[in-house]
Amino acid sequence: MSHIALGVIGGTGVYKLAQLADVETREVDTRYGKPSGPVRIGHLLGQRVAFLARHGEGHSVPPHQVNYRANLAALQAVGVQRVLALNTVGGITERFGPRVLACPDQIIDYTWGRISTICEEPGTDVLHVDFGDPYTPLLRHKILAAARVTGVKLVDGGCYGATQGPRLETKAEIARMRRDGCDLVGMTGMPEAALARELGLDYACLAIIANWAAGCGTGEEITMAEVLANVDAASSGLPELIGELARG
Ligand code: HPA
Repeated sequence: MSHIALGVIGGTGVYKLAQLADVETREVDTRYGKPSGPVRIGHLLGQRVAFLARHGEGHSVPPHQVNYRANLAALQAVGVQRVLALNTVGGITERFGPRVLACPDQIIDYTWGRISTICEEPGTDVLHVDFGDPYTPLLRHKILAAARVTGVKLVDGGCYGATQGPRLETKAEIARMRRDGCDLVGMTGMPEAALARELGLDYACLAIIANWAAGCGTGEEITMAEVLANVDAASSGLPELIGELARG
């Protein structure tokens, strides 16, 4: 295992890391099974970075069937300690419109039926990890610092509401989430963040806002084409930001 400065998990619309050079591909098997695809390890602006596409490189794995444990364990197996999770999301509150990038600091979990702990394996101790701050505060600070250095605009904070999917939400569900205090809605934020904590990884989220959530903003129908176009447009500064983060 050699040192890798950063592991990156790509979400919807981010199936590879632009500017990743000298790429080496690892097929990793873990005690939790197979990850969504190969781990691609390469150099990004001089730093060694590992990348994994959360839904597979052809987006074939729906949110509720992602093997979150295997994905994180595969990154850990190749030597990753710090994980930057890229999550494509919908925006609920004012500051989180399409094409905005955000570094949330809280989560509410609305998912169900997903394997959400590593403690079910035979021989593992039951863990009750502290999850008051679900994202590693120091890594969040480093992401925000890297954004400042590279001139990438990033909203500091926000609450990520994790829904089951794969369908989008009803307007009433989003209205309830707004009342609960959610700013963002996505389908993959949990159990990934909690599993990272159990596995002892540093983990934080960079949310890419692709659309207004149901009933928010202009209230128009949400299309996959709109989601992908907005992710693309919002992602142009990410290689520099990720390279800078890997350096720090
Ligand atoms: N809801 C849930 N997940 C999402 C959305 C949304 O509106 N947009 C992108 N991922």
